[in-house]
Amino acid sequence: MGDSDATGGLALRRRATFAVGKSASLLPMNGKSAAACESSVTADSSKDHGQGKRDRPLETARSKTSSEKQQRRSDVSERLSCHKTQESLLSSASGFNNYRGILNWCVVMLVLSNARLFLENLLRYGVLVDPIQVISLFLKDPYSWPAACLVIVSNAFVLVALYTERQLSKGSFTELVGFLVHCINMAIMLTLPAAVVLLVPSVTPVGGAFVVGTYTILSLKLYSYKDVNMWCRELSSVKAKKLSRSLSCPSAQHLNGGDRKVCYPGNLTIRDMCYFVCAPTLCYELNFPRSANIRMSFLMRRLFEMLFFTQLLVGLTQQWMIPIIQSSMKPLEDMDLSRMTERLLRLAVPNHLLWLMFFYGFFHSSMNFSAELLRFGDRQFYKDWWNSESVTYFWQNWNIPVHKWCLRHFYKPLLRRGFSKIVSQSAVFFLSAFFHEYLVSVPLRMFRLWAFMGMMAQLPLAWFVGRFLHGTYGNAAVWISIIIGQPIAVLMYVHDYYVLQHIQEAD
Ligand SMILES: CC(C)(COP(=O)(O)OP(=O)(O)OC[C@H]1O[C@@H](n2cnc3c(N)ncnc32)[C@H](O)[C@@H]1OP(=O)(O)O)[C@@H](O)C(=O)NCCC(=O)NCCS
Repeated sequence: MGDSDATGGLALRRRATFAVGKSASLLPMNGKSAAACESSVTADSSKDHGQGKRDRPLETARSKTSSEKQQRRSDVSERLSCHKTQESLLSSASGFNNYRGILNWCVVMLVLSNARLFLENLLRYGVLVDPIQVISLFLKDPYSWPAACLVIVSNAFVLVALYTERQLSKGSFTELVGFLVHCINMAIMLTLPAAVVLLVPSVTPVGGAFVVGTYTILSLKLYSYKDVNMWCRELSSVKAKKLSRSLSCPSAQHLNGGDRKVCYPGNLTIRDMCYFVCAPTLCYELNFPRSANIRMSFLMRRLFEMLFFTQLLVGLTQQWMIPIIQSSMKPLEDMDLSRMTERLLRLAVPNHLLWLMFFYGFFHSSMNFSAELLRFGDRQFYKDWWNSESVTYFWQNWNIPVHKWCLRHFYKPLLRRGFSKIVSQSAVFFLSAFFHEYLVSVPLRMFRLWAFMGMMAQLPLAWFVGRFLHGTYGNAAVWISIIIGQPIAVLMYVHDYYVLQHIQEAD
């Protein structure tokens, strides 16, 4: 008896385990549907038998008991099985991708390690932040403001471009004459500020950089202005009929913000030109997309960010960057490779943080500020360059105004003229390298070609990353090239600048 009992019990248990195993494999969906089935079957059978009102409490009690049984059975099955086939969260096959906590951890670690660096810096150098020194960066002589004068003079070049376009629209200038006037105008725009910065001693490097930057932006804008107006003329002469339909402006036509739509040559006005000069874009358009109104809170937030980041950039440069750069001069002079590498890595952190702040302060805060003020609708000043898995993606996405200009006024025209993609890309990078060198060398009054070479090096780097590194590795390569590449260039320029100053002082 005992044996048979034991066997029977075992068999019963085995059957139960089997049943549980079956149901477990179908859980959780089937667990629910089985209960639902059973209750529906009960409901059906109650209908079929057509029992009266008096039998209902009995039925309810019965269904209650069966659902309790069902519940008990599923409780037991849950107790018996606690495993299922599944991947660990950190393996890629799990499909898990919520790393918000890890990101927070990174931020906390970053703050903590930088707080330590900050304290160490304070203890070693004391407070070096000096707001008055900032003024001296712009002005050497309080009675001589060459940089500001040059910026005012730049308006003359804008007026020349407008005048030329008006003459072209009236037919007073031929296309060739107009083209020559534009070329001369732009050539003077690039050489005049450079000559003044190089020859007038009272221009400081920062003042010089501001002037040269302003003139470069303006010349790119005027080039775009020339091109777009020329395209309008081409359209009107070649497809006169079609144009009368596509570019004509019926009186009722309005843009998004309720502004009237202009058409060529109605756009050749001082007002339109001033708007383009101030707008945060390098590419001209007859009718820019406009936002409906100015959001004051948005404007104030961007203004606050601009002021905050400017202060922070200046403060961190004085407190953090300059001491490291100064301490790097000796290893650079002695060509002490291990110390040079150590200083380079030390400089990489503040340099990178300042660059990120500059990116946010310039491309987000100040560009959005001017766009909001001018109700300029296209706010795509950058795209997600931080996800770049290739160098090409980075250059396509980090500075959209420049990339757009390069594509519209240089790269695509070259492609249309039959140049190959690689030649056109190289030409764009060559032009970009020229402007990078121009913007650094002229204010520092020395020509070393570090910026030029850095930009040209992007082509082989792009090829290497595109060929050998993909996905996360590609992204890491882009970050490393940004984090390490920039301080190398900074150290080179600063070293050469210090050496030059030293030689001049000795003379
Ligand atoms: C060189 C550069 C312009 C190449 O850009 P890209 O996006 O890789 O170029 P692509 O070959 O993919 O083509 C871009 C466009 O040209 C078009 N195109 C390609 N071949 C074409 C052809 N034969 N004719 C006409 N258009 C063509 C494409 O359709 C594409 O058009 P879309 O933008 O409307 O989609 C870009 O890398 C760049 O801007 N580099 C410099 C950036 C820089 O110096 N920035 C300074 C920041 S400080």
